[in-house]
Amino acid sequence: MLDKTGFDLWADDYDKAVGVSDVENTYPFAGYKEVLGRIFQTVLEKQNPTVLDIGFGTGTLTAKLYERGCAIYGQDFSPRMIELASGKMPEAQLYQGDFTRGLVEPLYHQSYDFIVATYSLHHLTDEQKAAFLRTLRDCLKEDGQILIGDVAFETREELDRCREAAGDEWDDEEIYFVADELKRAFPELSFTPVSCCAGILTLHR
Ligand SMILES: C[S@@+](CC[C@H](N)C(=O)[O-])C[C@H]1O[C@@H](n2cnc3c(N)ncnc32)[C@H](O)[C@@H]1O
Repeated sequence: MLDKTGFDLWADDYDKAVGVSDVENTYPFAGYKEVLGRIFQTVLEKQNPTVLDIGFGTGTLTAKLYERGCAIYGQDFSPRMIELASGKMPEAQLYQGDFTRGLVEPLYHQSYDFIVATYSLHHLTDEQKAAFLRTLRDCLKEDGQILIGDVAFETREELDRCREAAGDEWDDEEIYFVADELKRAFPELSFTPVSCCAGILTLHR
């Protein structure tokens, strides 16, 4: 699994690397642009929302929301990703912090219309995901939503089929979302498949 130094090294090439996999419609980034596009549209249905991005990377999604007037907060552990994202969003409140240890303290001082996490939370175990989602849900405004876009499947069988098709490309160190299983902890969770290996999980407060 990549640590923050690994993500630093990936940062400068990240947008291009993701684009190639998406265009080729292959695991792991098939549907990446559509996932981000749909989350972008959902967020902009609200007027001037406050948005927290967990693992914002180079700011691919949040920089677009920033340009449209959203108040942007974020947490990522890679100094290079933060540097690249800050260049695109100088007024955003971007913090360095490892989300396996939860949110950094200043991010608790705010409540959010949307908390988004794209292609980042698969670094957590399923138990860590559930605990972190509970923490994040408490940081939402009354009508707020958590929107997770990632490699994700409705069922374990679908994940297994994708793993077989991906062969050696499959990353055993990443722990992908299985919506049916996460619904045991969050029965109100909804899942929208977007591609053969990607989808959006939505959780309301
Ligand atoms: C694959 S990139 C996704 C970036 C962006 N959200 C996107 O959709 O393009 C994963 C991001 O999560 C960050 N990340 C991974 N594990 C993390 C952790 N434990 N704590 C904080 N950030 C983490 C990485 O530094 C990287 O910027």
